[in-house]
Amino acid sequence: MGRYLDVYRKSIEAPEEFWAKAAESIDWVRKWDKVLDDSDPPFYRWFSGGELNTCYNALDRHVARGRADQVALIYDSPVTNTIQKFTYREFTDRVARFAGGLRSLGVKKGDTVIIYMPMIPEAVVAMLACARLGAVHSVVFGGFAPNELALRIDHAEPKVLVTASGAIEGKKLLEYKPLVEKAIELSRHKPERVVVFQRPIVKAALSADRDVDWMALESGSEPADCVPVKATDPLYILYTSGTTGMPKGVVRDNGGHAVALFWSMENIYDVRAGDVYWAASDVGWVVGHSYIVYAPLLRGCTTVLYEGKPIGTPDPGAFWRVISQHGVKVLFTAPTAFRAIKKEDPEGTFCQNYDLTDFKYLFLAGERLDPDTYHWARRILKRPVIDHWWQTETGWPIAANCMGIEQLPVKPGSPTVPVPGYDVRILDPNGKELGPHEEGSVVVKLPLPPGTLPTLYKANERFVEAYMSVFKGYYMTSDGGYKDEDGYAFIMGRIDDVINVAGHRLSTGAMEEIIAKHPDVAECAVLGAEDTLKGQIPLGLIVLKAGVNREAGDIATELVKMVREQIGPIACYKDTAVVKRLPKTRSGKILRGTMRKIADGSEYRAPSTIDDPAILDEITEALKGIGYPKAHA
Ligand code: COA
Ligand code: AMP
Repeated sequence: MGRYLDVYRKSIEAPEEFWAKAAESIDWVRKWDKVLDDSDPPFYRWFSGGELNTCYNALDRHVARGRADQVALIYDSPVTNTIQKFTYREFTDRVARFAGGLRSLGVKKGDTVIIYMPMIPEAVVAMLACARLGAVHSVVFGGFAPNELALRIDHAEPKVLVTASGAIEGKKLLEYKPLVEKAIELSRHKPERVVVFQRPIVKAALSADRDVDWMALESGSEPADCVPVKATDPLYILYTSGTTGMPKGVVRDNGGHAVALFWSMENIYDVRAGDVYWAASDVGWVVGHSYIVYAPLLRGCTTVLYEGKPIGTPDPGAFWRVISQHGVKVLFTAPTAFRAIKKEDPEGTFCQNYDLTDFKYLFLAGERLDPDTYHWARRILKRPVIDHWWQTETGWPIAANCMGIEQLPVKPGSPTVPVPGYDVRILDPNGKELGPHEEGSVVVKLPLPPGTLPTLYKANERFVEAYMSVFKGYYMTSDGGYKDEDGYAFIMGRIDDVINVAGHRLSTGAMEEIIAKHPDVAECAVLGAEDTLKGQIPLGLIVLKAGVNREAGDIATELVKMVREQIGPIACYKDTAVVKRLPKTRSGKILRGTMRKIADGSEYRAPSTIDDPAILDEITEALKGIGYPKAHA
């Protein structure tokens, strides 16, 4: 562990020196006054006084320094049978022109723009065009329903919304424009203009006064130059699930973000300029922001934008085809994708049909990497399989096996060790630090390194309350876990109302808010139950109002529809058990943890604070009635 420990210690003992050195890889318009401004904890600011432009660092400087003809982005879309490549010069031209188009619609530094797009190059163009103008983008994942989009429109108050006519999701054709119309109808704030990229797969109707055709806008606009912004100015807002229906608007700054992501490419992922890097995620998630768009481009790599699935587009060999066809060095995806491939091709026969010579590492994140999936991936690929742990809030990994520093021995089930910059500790509920193998709250001692969230958008108080108030001086990750005697972290799962479904972060609290609105429901609880493919799936338990004697199945179907319509299909809400009452403590807290154990078929002990232990038998029976426990069956 010599080299890793050396780098790690330097980052914790002398963070300003460490990150100032890392910041030399970024082109600054004005150098910072202070590497770390810690005058107003827990609000820390990196590189204050500095000025730069993130788009310049991701595109223009590579054109200026000999990478103009290198491919910047490969768009690989099995669902539309398309492969397109853009060099750094071509991509810069498109971004500059689209930025000019946005500028002609009135978008300027500090304005917000919502991007609701499928996985097409134009989504990346739109993000970088905002960055070029110093405008703040907020990308909304395409699997969210209009109601979720409306929440974000009202909070971010975008001047312009950028969208596309539609997408092919697996095999289904999905029209985006009606969803956007519905969201704008639901929202109080109305974007002034809606820019629509018309895809050949489906044509959207445009309203003459508000809607703008993307291609006409891009081709008819003068290219815009990069606008310098402060290092501490926001680059984007990314809404993520919290414990209530109102998502948290995670803010990302410009300076710290560029420095940290650049550093991560070489040190964590072991990639350099010219390498082909593929994050098989979606631009709507943090992995997509950081590792489809910004980090690979900041580093001068070739990034792959894949519009397809691990299976079914057309078969479980899809990932191996992309890797071999484009010479991918690093693939980064979620364990769920591998569980899906393993289910369809348990022996990995598809893998043997492709030449994977250039492929060096598989990185997995987004949910716990279960040891079975780890061993399978390792056996099939015969390459390092790296679990690493991070969150939307941090924007880059908190714990990893840093391939560019030193390859440490793998312990399946652990994302290895804290990444330089992150002082990870395990605390008990009283804030006392715990020793090896003692499970508690996983926290990071402040300050967090560059690139992590400086605050929540328009919600400084919520930022302090959600992350900084439980353990003073520490960022609370809301994950539970422990470290072992070698300092390896083991992240065991969320200790709040957030669940991970197929690597997608969702709030059970938000689902409860929807279910509680059903006219027949008196009370409800939603839990994350174990699922062999998706890691977790939501499971609802409802108590009906007195006098309701409708078929449970009908109510369950209505609830599925409500959650689907209000959150979106990605919530994967399917199962509801009707129970007579919910187990609670004497003070009235619903015992979700105990019910989760029952649903998973794990051993549980009735808590001493329970008001009536007999309820747990009723819950067991009701869950049996809808086929739980599943995972251990
Ligand atoms: N737009 C619209 N709908 C979407 C969508 C999108 N971008 N992404 C998913 N959905 C829909 C799906 O079509 C599905 O709808 P359905 O209920 O009508 O069938 C629903 O949301 C659930 O999607 P998902 O959980 O992805 O299930 P799936 O069965 O379609 O696919 C996997 C399963 C494992 C193949 C898929 O989840 C996967 O590839 N996961 C990788 C994880 C990942 O990329 N995580 C990102 C963080 S790194
Ligand atoms: P998101 O913000 O969507 O990236 O989700 C973050 C959450 O996903 C974390 O708080 C963890 O609960 C979980 N997570 C992400 N990566 C890992 C990992 N490698 N191991 C365990 N949990 C993970």
